[in-house]
Amino acid sequence: MLNKSNTRTDTHDTEARITALLSEMTLEEKMGQLTQFSGFYDVTGPPPPGDREAQKHALLQRGLIGSMLNVVGYDDVRAFQTYAVENSRLGIPMMFAYDVIHGHKTMFPIPLAEAASWDLDLIEKGARVAATEAAAQGLNWTFAPMVDVTRDARWGRVMEGAGEDPYLGAVIAEARVKGFQGEDLGSPDTVLATVKHFAGYGFAEAGKEYNVAEVSQVTLFNTILQPFRDVLENANPRSFMNAFNTINGIPATGDVELQRGLLKGDWGFDGVVVSDWGSAIEMVSHGFVEDGREAARVAMTAGSDVDMESYVYLDHLNDLVETGDLDLELIDDAVRRVLRTKFELGLFDDPYRYLDRDRESETLMTQAHLQASEEIARKSIVLLKNHHGALPLQQGERVALIGALAADKDAPLGNWRAHAEAHSAMSVLEAFEEAQLNFEYSHGVHVQWGDAGFEYPVHINTDNWEGFDEAVEAARQADKVVLVLGETARQSGEGRSRVDLGFPGLQQQLLEAVHAANHNLVLVVMSGRPLVLSWADAHVPAIVQAWHLGHRAGRAITDVLTGKENPSGKLPMSFPRSVGQLPLYYNHMNTGRPGPKETVVWAGYSDVETTALYPFGHGLSYSHFVYSNLAVAYHEGQIEVQVAVQNVEGPPGEEVVQVYVHDRVASIARPVRELKAFKKLSLESGEYQALTFKLKAKDLGFYKADGTFAVEAGEFDIYVGGSSCAQLSARIRLSSEDVESLV
Ligand code: GLC
Repeated sequence: MLNKSNTRTDTHDTEARITALLSEMTLEEKMGQLTQFSGFYDVTGPPPPGDREAQKHALLQRGLIGSMLNVVGYDDVRAFQTYAVENSRLGIPMMFAYDVIHGHKTMFPIPLAEAASWDLDLIEKGARVAATEAAAQGLNWTFAPMVDVTRDARWGRVMEGAGEDPYLGAVIAEARVKGFQGEDLGSPDTVLATVKHFAGYGFAEAGKEYNVAEVSQVTLFNTILQPFRDVLENANPRSFMNAFNTINGIPATGDVELQRGLLKGDWGFDGVVVSDWGSAIEMVSHGFVEDGREAARVAMTAGSDVDMESYVYLDHLNDLVETGDLDLELIDDAVRRVLRTKFELGLFDDPYRYLDRDRESETLMTQAHLQASEEIARKSIVLLKNHHGALPLQQGERVALIGALAADKDAPLGNWRAHAEAHSAMSVLEAFEEAQLNFEYSHGVHVQWGDAGFEYPVHINTDNWEGFDEAVEAARQADKVVLVLGETARQSGEGRSRVDLGFPGLQQQLLEAVHAANHNLVLVVMSGRPLVLSWADAHVPAIVQAWHLGHRAGRAITDVLTGKENPSGKLPMSFPRSVGQLPLYYNHMNTGRPGPKETVVWAGYSDVETTALYPFGHGLSYSHFVYSNLAVAYHEGQIEVQVAVQNVEGPPGEEVVQVYVHDRVASIARPVRELKAFKKLSLESGEYQALTFKLKAKDLGFYKADGTFAVEAGEFDIYVGGSSCAQLSARIRLSSEDVESLV
């Protein structure tokens, strides 16, 4: 039995204790540690084949299972933990996991919205709050951050990541992992972070959910893997989750090269790899293995330590070892990783350390947490267009506030809402009332009928026009219209791929009719992804991207509309002119015929401009920032980039100064530009600031198809500005000697 009077152990001591524990464990006990069951109320994936309920209950009651997901709260966690500690032979405590993606009880903006803030401190703070609340409810493992680079807004899970850029994705992932894991994993307000989905899920072909990822090795190494590699190096996440998709015909769960060769081998990851829900048994559907027994052998061989909701390890590891088809050492390595994280969490010191009724009642949805959510919500709003100063709203203007989403208290919570209460967000309507604005509200048309659970389809209104005429008349009578359109919470997220990225239902018709009644129109877009806003861009004076912003969405949006908050968000994903452009991303290749030009024989389309409607990094302010004095020089092993920025007009504001690099000629074609540094700057009215950025070898080099990293001599163009379309540039040539001495 465990020595109950343990004090926290150091690493050497921990490994010794793990070895001792392993030597006592039976194979059945080892298989239990490598099995993760979902709880009995939240469902985040399809049920496993066959009726497993009785077996599941029996194994849990015997305390044989290593971890669970979707079990939350003092009573339920304590019940299952008591089974593990008191009913099992060795009393090994369980871990409890949950998808705490952007808040636990207090909802923060969806991750894609947080990414638009470019504010790493606020992002880390949000994860810290989420971990504090989750841990107060007995959880010690979150399945976040999702770090999948995404270039295709048809995929519903773009809401869950940090968008299309691997560098921005990497630094945001680091901030989230640090927020979740804190300084001490053994503290009862920190949780294991899980970097997911390893790897390539964000490249699901055609944005079709769970689809194959057809990517080159160069894209794999330089784009997809960068956030995983960098976050492991800089923030030490203690868990990775693999992915549903195949790359090169191999499902991630069975990919030896990816998981055991690269992640655990080259990168030296010594934490836990958990499969995604059912991904082990799904290798049968992929046609990659014959049956569950082969799935178990292949998954374990490939380095998938924990099997989430497949039961294949429970069913087959024993037989595989007895027949010599699987080496027990692989199982022991997986169990060692699981036990190691349990030691790091302090669960062997005290299996009940995450259970405290007072902490549970005092920690959730505090004013400080709501304030933190509101603060980053403000910074995540992106002003896409603002012609003729349509925004901010003028004092006393008679405003028609229109749109079902303007009154919707649920949409801002987003799809991965963890333990938030449904319909508990502050709506725009409530915030307009709180701000005592001069307005009338009309709901326009219903967007969706009823609520939809995580796994059920939504019912979009496509034929009920009730409210339409009243809204149009209200628009006609007003000085200005604020129209809130977009997606409800369940129209993005897992299982929510869409081929039409216009406004769902009758909203486009409402937009056009309201515009016809009153051109003095501000459009607020609530969505979990970039939508196609081409018609709006051609007709509407001001457009605000308001994502799904969490519990204080309404006030954050209203403060931007009234000018109380000067918008500072910048797009983490390109917004397309047409869905036909997808996948669309700023860091594209130049091709041999960069277009468009006067004739048709150049890269592009004959029916739409090839550029984004709103590019990566774009976002306006009520201020006007001017860049000048760009100077680029090689200095002591780095490239120094100096630039000045001035707030030449308007109120105090924030600007995200972005630095892009283009390697003009290399041994493989390189993107036309890539984000390599940024700084979010506060500038008083008229204030001028000089900045210096330092670029290193890792910013100038790239991975070749064979996985080797190279920095090559030659010319580099450096662009600096407020979006990926920055024109201010300077060129520098690096000699071989310069390259050799880069740090
Ligand atoms: C889901 C998701 C994964 C999540 C897991 C557990 O299918 O793919 O991101 O963490 O199952 O809910």
